[in-house]
Amino acid sequence: MSIEQDDIKVNLKGFAGHGLVHSNDSDDEITLVGSGTPAGEYLRRYWQPVFISSELDDLPVAIKILGEELVLFRDKSNQLGLVHKHCPHRQASLEFGICHETGIQCCYHGWHFDVDGTLIDVPGQPEHIADIIKQRVRLGAYPTHEFKGLIFAYLGPIDEKPEFPIYDSLDFEDMDMVPYKAPFKCNWLQVLDAIVDPIHTSFLHSNMSREQFSEGFGEVGQIDFFERDSWILGCNTRRVGDNVWFRINEVVLPNFTQAGAAFAADGTKKIYYGRSSFTRWVVPIDDETTICYAWANFGDRGDPHEYNTPEGPELIEQGEIFDRPYEQRQRFPADREACEGMGPINIHKNENLLTSDQGVAMMRQRIREQIRTVSSGKHPYLASKLVGMPIPTYGGDSVLTIPKNKGDDDALLSKLAHEFVEIQFQVDGKPEKERIKVVTEKLKQIQLRENPVVTE
Ligand code: FES
Ligand SMILES: [Fe+2]
Repeated sequence: MSIEQDDIKVNLKGFAGHGLVHSNDSDDEITLVGSGTPAGEYLRRYWQPVFISSELDDLPVAIKILGEELVLFRDKSNQLGLVHKHCPHRQASLEFGICHETGIQCCYHGWHFDVDGTLIDVPGQPEHIADIIKQRVRLGAYPTHEFKGLIFAYLGPIDEKPEFPIYDSLDFEDMDMVPYKAPFKCNWLQVLDAIVDPIHTSFLHSNMSREQFSEGFGEVGQIDFFERDSWILGCNTRRVGDNVWFRINEVVLPNFTQAGAAFAADGTKKIYYGRSSFTRWVVPIDDETTICYAWANFGDRGDPHEYNTPEGPELIEQGEIFDRPYEQRQRFPADREACEGMGPINIHKNENLLTSDQGVAMMRQRIREQIRTVSSGKHPYLASKLVGMPIPTYGGDSVLTIPKNKGDDDALLSKLAHEFVEIQFQVDGKPEKERIKVVTEKLKQIQLRENPVVTE
């Protein structure tokens, strides 16, 4: 619920624990992800990352994605298979199957399946029986796509499989993209909400815990939200001395996320069109567990190469490493503590949303609309509609030197944020090099307009 003007006048007494009633309504429409659920079917219309390539060796692995028990394997001719866990004969698990030149063979009675689930051999049976079984039985299987060290899968109806979306940030020539994963013991929406809640960086990652990123994050700044088609953007615009620091957090529906740099940006150093330090999907394992699969982006427009360590992506992801003693988690909480502490599925009816939660409200509403679009048999938004061109994304930092003027500084920051987002929208569909050139030029023009004495 959101705070309405009238609610503020209610005179609540202290020690009201006994009288306060909490809802148990978990808003199943947008939280539950299993096969056949509304949100589960919506998420199944998109490619989802499901594993890190380097962690898959010659043995099959059992994984769970969107509540489905699956087995991922690589056959000896290097084809990936993602199949239902249980063999359709008598339900043995294919995690104990044997990988062959083509496909996988069940350990129990040797049924042999291709990577698309076709039954190619039924050993030990008369030929005519085997032929009938091969025609009648399929193992459930899903298409896969391997890209820069991550394995993606499409779990939706095969006739509706979209192109694998190539976001601009999947092909930055000047960044080292390092795959990582980050598990959360809570519903996917809790993890996704944090991205469109940029103000939490000033509290959770700065003033409430310790300075987990840089000093500049402690400043709350001005927050503006934007939405268009698949995108929900939150621009946090902070004043740092004579500088103005724009930082865009981004969700591309349903669950692709980016933000600015974690450690390279503090508002003190001029940046023209910096990009996200992570490119990440928030993937439900089931209703109450989630895993983020992502690349950490190291380079001049992302985070510094010195953070390219085993712990680096965890620090970028949430400001702290994941596996640490409970006491340290209490003293220095990070995203895991904030998101998991809500419980396995956050009850939205028990919340009191404010203006700074507008991005959260906007995103949930948009997700609900899209879920209903799919439920009614129509197609949801696809960011990949810009055919032939990488899909534009906007998460990142820019810092300009624009000192305070005599007017309302918050109003100035907000006006500049709108201009900053608009100039990026104007170059959608252009090649990356041209976008960098035009956005940089326009940022410099804005800077010169507001601050005629500025130097590069
Ligand atoms: S259970 Fe798999 S072949 Fe029998
Ligand atoms: Fe965070």
